[in-house]
Amino acid sequence: MLNDPTIDRRDALRHVAGAIACAAVSPPARAATGEAGRAVPFGSAVQIPWLVDNPEYRAAIVRHCSIIVPEGGLKWLDMRPDPKSYWFGLGDQLVDFGARHDMQVRGHTLVWHGALPQWAKELGSATEATHALSDHITKVVGRYAGRIASWDVINEPLPEDQQTPNERRTSIWYRLLGEDYIALALRLANAADPRAELVINEYDLEFVGARFERKRAGMLDLLEKVKKSGAPVHALGLQGHLRGERDIDRPGLARFIREVRGLGLDIVVTELDVMDYSLPGDVAERDTAVAARAAALLDVVFENCTPRAVLTWGLSDRHVWVPDYFKRRDKLPNRPLPLDENYAAKPFQRVLERFGAKVRN
Ligand code: XIL
Repeated sequence: MLNDPTIDRRDALRHVAGAIACAAVSPPARAATGEAGRAVPFGSAVQIPWLVDNPEYRAAIVRHCSIIVPEGGLKWLDMRPDPKSYWFGLGDQLVDFGARHDMQVRGHTLVWHGALPQWAKELGSATEATHALSDHITKVVGRYAGRIASWDVINEPLPEDQQTPNERRTSIWYRLLGEDYIALALRLANAADPRAELVINEYDLEFVGARFERKRAGMLDLLEKVKKSGAPVHALGLQGHLRGERDIDRPGLARFIREVRGLGLDIVVTELDVMDYSLPGDVAERDTAVAARAAALLDVVFENCTPRAVLTWGLSDRHVWVPDYFKRRDKLPNRPLPLDENYAAKPFQRVLERFGAKVRN
């Protein structure tokens, strides 16, 4: 990475400083990527059916990604039609694609409040919940052992509006098992694939404001408790769903990352994009603002550690999840991602390249 001509001297020095800082508390080498001194893999969330059906989309993913994660396909709703059955079709296509193109594959996600089939939402006791989690994690992580090197084991464990540090999101898992569901899931994942990197993934950890300070405090509280329980956890996933209208709290985030690193955990940027619904309609202006916001986050991350990977939540504005939740009032299409609707690089992509993203020919 240090020989990469796209990285200027200032960036190179930052990478070295970050690598040294991170190496000091890095856990033992694992099969996953991003060890200090190695290039950070950059990539994107993918829609597996498009990889199969859409040659233009597939070519863009191959060109720009050295790591991929499925946007859907490994969520309970996609694989668990009933308590006994598993659909592995999409997951198998994903790992085959990754292997064929020499890409690393992340798994998303084993335990989440979202994308649950009705039967899982209706689990009625701690025994049932424990059984469902054990069966699911053992079978899914076990099937892809050695092929999925990093898992978002726990997704979004904190509430939307954190009040006190010990508050957790009241998912079905929390309601039936209390906070212990987190340690349980991590232990199960580790038993099914001892080499896999295990990640706790969350959003809204980076902005200016009391609400976001409280969320950072909640995450530190959670991570400290998990570490104290002895459950295996290797990294915090910063989802990085950024907002056009919200500033990054640079000192607050820097301090937070250092505290997380102090617990012996790595950082992964897992779902980077920039919600542009409040930004000006003008395309050039909007693309510049989106890139600046992404750069602000990556600046702080790379100044304070070498992340294990950086992934955006989608690659091209042609295929975005954002309008499902953050449609623009002027009805203009959203532009939250590194490539435009014709797969051409936007300023956001240049930012990623400045931080080490490679483009394959
Ligand atoms: C989103 C997908 O992008 C959508 O296609 C799907 O309909 C809903 O889920 N945080 C997460 C992801 O962890 O799983 C979410 O993905 C986006 C927010």
